Amino acid sequence: MKAVLITQPGAPEVLKLQEYAEPKPGDDEVLIKVKAAGLNRADVAQRQGNYPPPPGAPVDVPGMEVSGVVTECGIAVTMWKPGDEVCALIAGGGYAEYVAVKEGQCLPVPGGISLADAAGLPETIFTVWSNVFQRGSLQPGENLLVHGGSSGIGITAIQLAHAFGSRVFVTVGSEDKGKACLELGANKYINYRTQDFEQELKSEGVDVILDMIGGAYFSKNINILNPGGRLVYINFMKGKMAELDLAKLMQKRLLVTGSTLRGREYGYKKALAEEILLRVWPLFESGEFKPVTYKTFSFNEAAEAHMLMESSDHIGKIILVNENFR
Ligand SMILES: NC(=O)c1ccc[n+]([C@@H]2O[C@H](COP(=O)([O-])OP(=O)(O)OC[C@H]3O[C@@H](n4cnc5c(N)ncnc54)[C@H](OP(=O)(O)O)[C@@H]3O)[C@@H](O)[C@H]2O)c1
Repeated sequence: MKAVLITQPGAPEVLKLQEYAEPKPGDDEVLIKVKAAGLNRADVAQRQGNYPPPPGAPVDVPGMEVSGVVTECGIAVTMWKPGDEVCALIAGGGYAEYVAVKEGQCLPVPGGISLADAAGLPETIFTVWSNVFQRGSLQPGENLLVHGGSSGIGITAIQLAHAFGSRVFVTVGSEDKGKACLELGANKYINYRTQDFEQELKSEGVDVILDMIGGAYFSKNINILNPGGRLVYINFMKGKMAELDLAKLMQKRLLVTGSTLRGREYGYKKALAEEILLRVWPLFESGEFKPVTYKTFSFNEAAEAHMLMESSDHIGKIILVNENFR
């Protein structure tokens, strides 16, 4: 099969479509013929040599989510059969014509959603569900702040929080991105290049914050949280060290937490998939959640796709499509 390889750590040009060994499904795995693979910011860090995948995942083929058709099932597989269209959360190796994945990390392609769009669903939905709704316990009527509102994570968090009855604030780097977030259900955007989100939101009060920025945002987040507020970290793009005012933590009874999804055990991911199928998948049918695909590229344009992600010009997801898929 062909796969997009990180031929050496470096700039986007190190990504090359080459021959690669086809994976064999284990007893509880399905083999997926890949139609499309979603890009995630972590793929960029992996390509640069800054983010080794967890044990068992290929180090030289990026890709944490795919869509496609099941072509083979291990002997213990009960959930799927050959011919089923699925999208799947994987720990790596998604930029490839075939992927082997445990059956419980697959979800059916939602009705009316194309295979290409479905490839961009798993990573952000699993991440947002586990961090905003489980870890952050966002409740209907509460206010959520999402930093990076136009990111793949942001467009997912906005739609889910809106659908479940929360008010959503976002930070963005341009007016166009802010307007796109409003169209997806956000109530207010703060252009972080021209406005200070702490000033803009201190009178609103925020119950849950999903932050991928870190650094100087930390103390501002602490300042605008309501009593009982929850601050959830999924990355620290602008710095991992921060100073915490313990008095504010205690006086407002705040919770500061965070998580990474990629290295979590199978049982956790399977349980998450089951909850998402019950709670999120109906939102596709009701029209309350839709994929936001900014641009698709073919597998041999993976370098261009990474350049676009690094430019941050995109709103929503960037998808690689396997043009050999039949
Ligand atoms: N912990 C986990 O399990 C987990 C799982 C998935 C993703 N993540 C993390 O979630 C983040 C988003 O991932 P993605 O794949 O959705 O990436 P992405 O689409 O590339 O999004 C990155 C976003 O960061 C925004 N940004 C940059 N500087 C900012 C600032 N100072 N203030 C506010 N926003 C800023 C960019 O918006 P502008 O262009 O407007 O600046 C862009 O929308 C990444 O950091 C990723 O590592 C974590």
